[in-house]
Amino acid sequence: MCSPFFVGMLPVLLLAGLILALSIPGATSESATLRFLGQTDFVVNESSTAVVRLVVERVGDPVNVTALVLLEGADTGDFEAINAAAFLLSTESSKTIFIAVKDDDLPEADETFIFNLKLQSSSNGVTLGTPNKATITILSNDNAFGIIAFNSTDEIVVDEPRRRNHYVPFTLIREKGTYGTVSVNFEISDGPNPAIEDLSPDRGNITIPVGQAVVHFSILILDDQIPEDDEVFSVRLTGVAGGALLRPNASSVQLRIRRNDSPLRFSHSIMAVPESAGVISLNVTRGRLTEDGPLVGSVDTEVSVDYMVVSGEGLGSATPAMDFLDLQPVRTVTFPPFVYKTSLLFNINDDTVPEIAESFHLVLLEETIKGDAVLISPNAVLVTIEPNDKPHGVLSISSSAVIQPITINEDLTQRFNGIIIVRNGGSYGAVSANWSISRNSSDLSPVSDDLRPVEGTVRFAANQVDAVIPIDIVADNQPEEAEAFILRLLPNTVTGNAEVDEPMEMVFYIQDSDDVYGLFRFDPEKNQSIHSQPEGRFLSLNFLRDGGTLGDVSMTITALYVPAGPIDPALARDQILNVSRSVDVVFARERMVHVILPIRNDAFLQNGAHFLIQLNTLELVDIKPPIPSNSPRFGGPRNLTLTVTPDIANGEIGFTSNTTVVVYEPEDSNTSTVNLPLWRDGTDGQAEVFWSLKPIGASREDVTSNDLTPLNGSVVFLSGQSDASINLTIMADNIPEVNETLLLTLDRSNVENQILKAGFTSREIVILENDDPGGVFEFSPFSRGPWVINEGEAVELHVVRAQGQLLKQLVRYAVMPSGSAEFYGATGILEFKPGEREVVVALVARPDGVPEVRGSLWRSVCFVGPGAGHVR
Ligand SMILES: *[C@@H]1O[C@H](CO)[C@@H](O)[C@H](O)[C@H]1NC(C)=O
Ligand SMILES: *[C@@H]1O[C@H](CO)[C@@H](O)[C@H](O)[C@H]1NC(C)=O
Ligand SMILES: *[C@@H]1O[C@H](CO)[C@@H](O)[C@H](O)[C@H]1NC(C)=O
Ligand SMILES: *[C@@H]1O[C@H](CO)[C@@H](O)[C@H](O)[C@H]1NC(C)=O
Ligand SMILES: *[C@@H]1O[C@H](CO)[C@@H](O)[C@H](O)[C@H]1NC(C)=O
Ligand SMILES: *[C@@H]1O[C@H](CO)[C@@H](O)[C@H](O)[C@H]1NC(C)=O
Ligand SMILES: *[C@@H]1O[C@H](CO)[C@@H](O)[C@H](O)[C@H]1NC(C)=O
Ligand SMILES: *[C@@H]1O[C@H](CO)[C@@H](O)[C@H](O)[C@H]1NC(C)=O
Ligand SMILES: *[C@@H]1O[C@H](CO)[C@@H](O)[C@H](O)[C@H]1NC(C)=O
Ligand SMILES: *[C@@H]1O[C@H](CO)[C@@H](O)[C@H](O)[C@H]1NC(C)=O
Repeated sequence: MCSPFFVGMLPVLLLAGLILALSIPGATSESATLRFLGQTDFVVNESSTAVVRLVVERVGDPVNVTALVLLEGADTGDFEAINAAAFLLSTESSKTIFIAVKDDDLPEADETFIFNLKLQSSSNGVTLGTPNKATITILSNDNAFGIIAFNSTDEIVVDEPRRRNHYVPFTLIREKGTYGTVSVNFEISDGPNPAIEDLSPDRGNITIPVGQAVVHFSILILDDQIPEDDEVFSVRLTGVAGGALLRPNASSVQLRIRRNDSPLRFSHSIMAVPESAGVISLNVTRGRLTEDGPLVGSVDTEVSVDYMVVSGEGLGSATPAMDFLDLQPVRTVTFPPFVYKTSLLFNINDDTVPEIAESFHLVLLEETIKGDAVLISPNAVLVTIEPNDKPHGVLSISSSAVIQPITINEDLTQRFNGIIIVRNGGSYGAVSANWSISRNSSDLSPVSDDLRPVEGTVRFAANQVDAVIPIDIVADNQPEEAEAFILRLLPNTVTGNAEVDEPMEMVFYIQDSDDVYGLFRFDPEKNQSIHSQPEGRFLSLNFLRDGGTLGDVSMTITALYVPAGPIDPALARDQILNVSRSVDVVFARERMVHVILPIRNDAFLQNGAHFLIQLNTLELVDIKPPIPSNSPRFGGPRNLTLTVTPDIANGEIGFTSNTTVVVYEPEDSNTSTVNLPLWRDGTDGQAEVFWSLKPIGASREDVTSNDLTPLNGSVVFLSGQSDASINLTIMADNIPEVNETLLLTLDRSNVENQILKAGFTSREIVILENDDPGGVFEFSPFSRGPWVINEGEAVELHVVRAQGQLLKQLVRYAVMPSGSAEFYGATGILEFKPGEREVVVALVARPDGVPEVRGSLWRSVCFVGPGAGHVR
């Protein structure tokens, strides 16, 4: 947006000698001093809008004087122009000179420049006073101190070292500038455990000296001997000091320590075996902390460990070779990659000598571990060979059935094979014993109604150590409560020289069957619904009890109100239902129950929201079955969703958008209308919404009812109506105005259950700046020339601004072509503050002593934003 002005092709510069002759006035003895007035130290940002105003003052006699302001030292390109001039008429005592900063992309630290006030040589009779130096400091810029980042943000993967120190190297790079010493803090976090347990240090402060663009540091990985899975930590740069910045997307890297320290252990710490056991396996596992636990630590390498067999001398110690035999050729347990279990085989020697219990130990030897493994408990196993002096054995009921009573589910089981008779001691020869089952209750009906057979014989062949008593369960469709039975081994019926010993009786149960206490569900035949009636609103729920109706049952349900969106119980809101979240529904032997959950009068039901009904627990209130019962239980879905439809929903009113509305002052007509739509979700009932307009922002004082109307009002939604709008009228004028911002806010609605939609209750309206608020620039009529000046002489150009003066404006000018060689002040930037109408700039023809004949002088004024100005 440059608008060059042609002034004329004129003979401008004449011989230097001639100028001097012309410009030296008579032998008057006037004296005056030239100096800076006011502020002479400036600190500015490097910005294209930074303009320093230096005021030059003359004191003493009123004489014309030409002042120059020149940069000291070389031109480093930091300013738009390095010289400027001012011409003070005898009638003026001061003038303003503009020095504009140039914005570049070069990183620079703080830089201080000196501008010297000079007298143009022809300013006769005037001397230079003080202050005559001004300093301008341009603050460090363009990241002079650098931007710090990791050289790479790729995840770093390391192994935990074994018995040595392992350092992970990190590299930080300092991009852009390297001025100054800067420091940066790092911190390691986010691991599955505090970083200090695995890494050292877990935080620190790193210094990067002047001029250095790369720095290295390292972190020690600790060898902790604890089985671990992959652990991922974040190494994060948390702060910088000294002026640098962090690059946000490269200020952290992930550090992964691979799973390590595979645990080795025995499956058991003790093991009891009968003397007749033959070959037994003692298992060693790797990679698990418990027998069935998940894999932990490394599993992809081979590890091994040696073991030792320990047996004492005295009574109770098993003797190697005599009582047992190690079948391994070497005493080393080896796990190839991905093998998790190894069995050590031992042969137990069976002899006929009755013996007391004898034992030996197996111990894994920590110092013999090869590979990435650690020993954990149990790292030893005690093997006990059981005493043996009853060669034909002792029969008893398996003790597990006595400790944990057996329960049988009639509905699922036809034949039950869980009653086990064991033969302890010897297993020599075939033996048998009789058994019988009777009821363990006052019930007089025959046992055979429920199970068969009710008596029999259990037989063991030679060497057989356990036998099952199979029971057939009689299936029926009769809901029944749990029934208790008792099975007895009959000692006086034993054959084959065996004995019967405790436990020889056991109680067992057939559980309650065929849903005797009921099967509960939402009633599929009936409607589950939300009711909205003039008398009130409520949820209507119907529940059904199938199966038996024995017992009073308390069912707990939860009823949650979840606003529109995902049906997530965590998002549920209270204060909607007139009951607590959890509700007890009691079935006193009924088959159906109808539940009404009232909705609060003032509750806001949002369109698209849900009621989530969940069936939680069932409890028998009046009956205590002797064993855990199969019923009462739920049948069918455990939850139900009821959706709030628009006809039930209360209104939620808001703008259809919350973005800023930009409107233009009408150009061709007197008024224009802006229409801002509103939307209501849920249309139950009539609603009126009140709104108001409020000016905001810097120019809020300027907004009047001559700009737009009305400034407040209301909008009515009829029942069933979902859209409406607010209409505003914008009025035209010819007054320059800057952007005017107003906030249009929905304030309230007339009824309680109609609410305003969060996030959509206000809209910003911007009436765009208009009628040239920044102004229109031109040379004043007196300044348009043509000018004829001599070397060393000054010419003053007045730049004036018409129309708006509301904004600060910067105007660039330049003498063209090649003005700088011939003039001081040939280029520069003029600053118009708000309200400022005229700015003066002086050009001084440089006295260069070179004869010139003709020169061409062009002037040109360019507009350099920001804002709304024009150059005419
Ligand atoms: C420089 O810019 C910064 C940020 O934009 C600002 O906080 C500071 O006040 C400015 N300093 C000067 C001297 O203008
Ligand atoms: C001062 O300068 C003005 C304008 O150039 C000129 O009209 C006036 O004569 C000068 N006064 C003296 C005393 O030189
Ligand atoms: C980053 O630095 C590390 C050493 O600190 C080096 O091993 C790695 O190769 C570097 N990465 C890049 C992308 O330069
Ligand atoms: C690093 O430590 C030095 C010296 O204690 C301190 O001056 C600097 O502020 C620290 N750096 C950060 C980023 O906190
Ligand atoms: C990080 O940001 C820089 C600029 O700030 C960009 O050049 C670079 O591509 C970004 N890197 C990634 C991985 O997003
Ligand atoms: C040892 O492992 C083998 C094979 O997995 C298994 O058959 C045996 O029962 C285990 N021994 C013990 C004592 O758990
Ligand atoms: C509702 O029940 C279904 C299965 O019946 C289940 O998949 C769903 O997660 C349940 N929803 C809630 C919110 O509990
Ligand atoms: C707003 O203007 C629209 C047409 O542009 C009209 O339908 C609506 O009734 C007006 N609203 C009000 C509140 O005047
Ligand atoms: C005026 O508002 C418009 C639209 O929001 C914006 O683009 C422009 O930069 C604003 N002008 C000023 C001077 O703030
Ligand atoms: C505007 O609406 C968006 C959703 O469309 C919302 O995320 C944002 O918070 C709203 N803005 C304001 C200022 O409320």
